[in-house]
Amino acid sequence: MEDGAPLETVRGWLCAAHRIAVLTGAGISAESGVPTFRDAQTGYWAQFRAEDMATEEGFRAHPGRVWGWYQHRRQMLAGVQPNAGHRALAEFARRHPGRLTLITQNVDGLHQRAGSTDVLCLHGDLMEDRFLDVPRACCHPDTVEAGSPPHCPRCGNMLRPGVVWFGENLPLRTLEAAQQAARACDLMLVVGTAGAVYPAAGLARIARDAGARVAIVNPQPTELDAVAHMVLRGTAAQVLPVLLAPAGSGGDNGPVPATP
Ligand code: OAD
Repeated sequence: MEDGAPLETVRGWLCAAHRIAVLTGAGISAESGVPTFRDAQTGYWAQFRAEDMATEEGFRAHPGRVWGWYQHRRQMLAGVQPNAGHRALAEFARRHPGRLTLITQNVDGLHQRAGSTDVLCLHGDLMEDRFLDVPRACCHPDTVEAGSPPHCPRCGNMLRPGVVWFGENLPLRTLEAAQQAARACDLMLVVGTAGAVYPAAGLARIARDAGARVAIVNPQPTELDAVAHMVLRGTAAQVLPVLLAPAGSGGDNGPVPATP
């Protein structure tokens, strides 16, 4: 884990920042036991093609297979817990109401289970379902027929997971709120994302162009390293508790009061 000067530097930025935006990706959940997408060995996209498992076309072609994969991921999530990285973010936000905006690409709900509220979930929620096609009068989530996937018994409209697939739009209000937080922040922390998927990855550039400091927490190089002012090479569960811990004395990571 990176320690010493870079971490202390980012801690200084954090203490001085009035508004902090945090963008997280799959890496923050890795130490909870949730696979990432792009790890060369254990990542989901090392085992499956994203086109098959994370597009509408893939779902329509093999609905049972794709539904089964999301069911497997849901069951896996029931057996894992938020880690020290999730908890550090939730605790910081509790200590500093209104100062931190948490934006995540993750659909695993672990930030919320750690106690974070008002999380901007750019890619939806794995635990939610919705109908694949525009629901007709006969389509009701409470009366679906069991199956893989469950479907409307009258018209066959299938349930699908409430996540954003490739080629689909992100939820507009959530994206706009995230972009606004990126423009308004003094510091953006980018944690556990390869920075390969847009528009989420573009938030770091928006923040930098608007004058914010950008710091990355990641054990590996990312596509956003060049956008960052500082890269902390460590894992989320190692770095975030130290970075976000209350100051030992004389304060609590509070922003420096504005000088008149
Ligand atoms: P990726 O799997 O692309 O990247 C995970 C990142 O986490 C990599 O940069 C790793 O180095 C880093 N990492 C691994 N372990 C870590 C740890 N313990 N602490 C900190 N970082 C760690 O995941 P995302 O960037 O989140 O989209 O992927 C973005 C999107 O692509 C996902 O939301 C998903 C995927 O396809 C959809 O499904 C729409």
